[in-house]
Amino acid sequence: MKKSLLFTVLLGVAGVVTLSVSFAGPPAPKAAGIESKGYTWNAQDGEKIEAVKLKGNKVNGEEAYEVCGACHLPNGAGRPDGTFPQLAGQHTTVLIKQMADTRAGLRDNPTMYPFAVVLTDPQELADVAAYIESLCIPLDHGKYEGSDAAQQIAKGKGLYEKQCLECHGKNGEGDKAKFYPVIAGQHYNYLLTQMTHIRDGKRRNSNPEMVVAIKPYTDDMLVAISAYQASLKMPGAMCAEKAAKK
Ligand code: HEC
Ligand code: HEC
Repeated sequence: MKKSLLFTVLLGVAGVVTLSVSFAGPPAPKAAGIESKGYTWNAQDGEKIEAVKLKGNKVNGEEAYEVCGACHLPNGAGRPDGTFPQLAGQHTTVLIKQMADTRAGLRDNPTMYPFAVVLTDPQELADVAAYIESLCIPLDHGKYEGSDAAQQIAKGKGLYEKQCLECHGKNGEGDKAKFYPVIAGQHYNYLLTQMTHIRDGKRRNSNPEMVVAIKPYTDDMLVAISAYQASLKMPGAMCAEKAAKK
C-alpha cells in the first residue's frame, strides 16, 4: 500500500520547501547490526553490490536527487551545523552503502528513511551516486569554532594518525574500493556525532575494527579529532569562487 506523505522542511537559506512523496509502508524493522552475533560488516551482496557494479546515469540521478536536496541542499553541501552531512566529494561506494544500509534498516535514520525508500532500484541508487559524484566540493563547511582551534587541531592530528590513518588515509581521503568514507572537509558537528555513535554502538552498520580502534577515545579526544578532520580539505574538484556564491 502506498501512502502519501507531506513533509515540510525548513531551510535557513532556501526558505520553506514542501515535499510530497509516496512511501511504501512504515519504517523497516530494525535489522541486526554491529552488536549482534554473526554480523558481517559490508556483506558483498544485495542491492548495494548490484548498484556498485552498475553504471550510474547522471541525468536520471539529478532528477532522483531533487528530493534529497531539501535536506542535503541542491549542491550537496549539507548544513554546517552538522544536522545534514555534506555528500559532495564522498565516494560513490560509500554513498551507495549508506543509502542501502538506511533502506535495509541497518543504519538508523528516521528523518531520511521515507525519502531513501522512494529510490526504486539499484539502478536509481547508482544514478543518484553518479550525480552526487559530479558535484563540485563546496568551498566552505562547518569547522570547530573554539578559540583553542589551533591546539585542538594539533592534538587531533596526533590522535588521528595513531589509529585512523590506516583506513581513512593520510589526508582523510578514505578508500573508494574498500567503502571507507572520506572524512576530510566534512562538517565538524556531523563528524563528532558519527564518531560518538560508532564508539557507543549506536551506528549499527559500523566497521567492527573501527569500533575497536575508537573505543578508548574520550569525548574530549573525539572533539580534537573532529576539529582536525574538519580542517582538512576534501580531495576532488572544489567549486569555483563564483559558483559558490550563487
Ligand atoms: C529529511 C531530510 C533528508 C532527506 C530528504 C535526505 N536525507 Fe540523507 N541524511 C539525512 C540525515 C539527517 C543524515 C545523517 C544521519 C545520521 O546522523 O546518521 C543523512 C545521511 C545521508 C547519507 C550518509 C552520509 C555519510 O557521510 O555517511 C547519505 C549517502 C545520504 N544521506 C543520501 C541521501 C539521498 C541520496 C537522499 C535522497 C534520496 C537523501 N539523503 C535524502 C537527512 C536527509
Ligand atoms: C578498519 C578501518 C577503519 C579504522 C581503523 C577507522 N575507521 Fe572510521 N570508518 C570506517 C568505515 C568502513 C566507516 C563507514 C562505516 C559504515 O559503513 O557505516 C567509517 C566511518 C567513520 C566516520 C563517519 C563518516 C561518515 O561520513 O559518516 C568517521 C567520522 C570516522 N570513521 C572516523 C574514524 C576515526 C576518528 C578513527 C580512528 C579512531 C577511525 N575512523 C578508524 C573504517 C575505519
